[in-house]
Amino acid sequence: MRAHEAGALHAEGYRGPAWLETPFDVNALVPSLWASSVTRDGDGVVTVGGVPATRLAREFGTPAYVIDETDFRHRAREFKQQYAAEFTPLSGADVFYAGKAFLCTEIARWVEREGLNLDVCTGGELAVARRAGFPGSRIGMHGNNKSVAEIRGGLEYGVARIVVDSFEEIERIADVAAQLGVVAPVLVRVNVGVEAHTHEFIATAHEDQKFGLSLAGGQALEAVRRILARPDTLRLLGLHSHIGSQIFDTSGFEVSARRVLGLHAMLTKELGADLPELDLGGGFGIAYTTEHDPQPASRLAADMADIVERECRAEGVPVPRISVEPGRAIAGPSTFTLYEVGTVKPVALDGGACRVYVSVDGGMSDNIRTALYDAHFSCTLANRCSPAAPALARVVGRHCESGDIIVMDEFLPGDVGAGDLIAVPGTGAYCRALSSQYNHTPRPPVVAVRDGAARVIVRRETIDDILALDV
Ligand SMILES: Cc1ncc(COP(=O)(O)O)c(C=O)c1O
Repeated sequence: MRAHEAGALHAEGYRGPAWLETPFDVNALVPSLWASSVTRDGDGVVTVGGVPATRLAREFGTPAYVIDETDFRHRAREFKQQYAAEFTPLSGADVFYAGKAFLCTEIARWVEREGLNLDVCTGGELAVARRAGFPGSRIGMHGNNKSVAEIRGGLEYGVARIVVDSFEEIERIADVAAQLGVVAPVLVRVNVGVEAHTHEFIATAHEDQKFGLSLAGGQALEAVRRILARPDTLRLLGLHSHIGSQIFDTSGFEVSARRVLGLHAMLTKELGADLPELDLGGGFGIAYTTEHDPQPASRLAADMADIVERECRAEGVPVPRISVEPGRAIAGPSTFTLYEVGTVKPVALDGGACRVYVSVDGGMSDNIRTALYDAHFSCTLANRCSPAAPALARVVGRHCESGDIIVMDEFLPGDVGAGDLIAVPGTGAYCRALSSQYNHTPRPPVVAVRDGAARVIVRRETIDDILALDV
């Protein structure tokens, strides 16, 4: 294609997406978007856990991920308690925190102390769990292409379950188990063929993608048969299904639970398989902007218990012990990223509209979600309140890509300028975890805040860290 003059094609009369309303008070914090302790102090400064953002910026620098420890732990505890409350009268439930959302040794310790189990999907995540002293008996291992070394590491550490994702893996796990003289506890990841209403790259149970073994195509059943044929080295605990992430439409969860329970019942009745467990995955959505209205853990647990009980009764099979794997819903809302503004550039759009490009000292290296998933975030001016009228803004990073956007559309006070602090909420999941060193940018630290005190739980990378890799 040949280059052409830019024009109305790109942004005629643009006023932001339909759900974004001009705020009545541009300094107001929308509670559903922020960790529970976040508020503004008497000077208008955003505070978290009683610590002002200005102090955090001074002590730890920017950009920084700031995590409200109480909020994270409360959400973890809430999942644990709500699923226990709903499922104890049935066969009980386990909550596995999905470490892929965000994991470091301190997070693993919090998860352990709150009584949750842990889902890891690489040898690296397992290494973090081991360093934190997380018991193997409470770890589940995922991954669609686990190496022999990872399988061996998991079995040596005594993980509670390995989720099988392919035929090759059945042989691999059985071989390693035979070498170690153990029987490996496994689940089969079933692709239930559900089109989750979320971004294509985080939908995981339609047929044309890499995860799981197809229910409709018969591969899931074949995997079960192969596992049952190896009782000396493999013990089948049950089935697993995860349909995707950032899902609000509960009908997707319902269809998937019904389908996987149908297979569970068939295996129990026709093959005589004893399947004590069933994992229904994670994927529960959170509020990144006012567009989103997530369900609380109590509602999710109650709805799931209803479906599971109803389906098992209809099929005439005992209710298995249920597990779920929330990641985003625990880690996401606990954290905001704190940036400092470097430059501000008003850009005239066609139709008389204007957008203020606010460049901050981070970008797609610390938050790739916007570029990767067309994700939307919100943000606020964090170091002061402003009397200025709201201006439509786009918060962008410092990287060499025009797609280096952190917040696509948000209203910020019209006087936002260099030296101001911007806080972007909802960055606890899949931001640090998916971060990169693009443009040789050291990754920001993770600062945990609680009861008026702040401490670094993952330190800032340095240029020396990056240069140390060059041979
Ligand atoms: C198998 C599995 N379980 C759990 C999760 C966690 O999902 P979420 O963070 O949306 O709860 C994922 C993430 O995609 C996953 O692949």
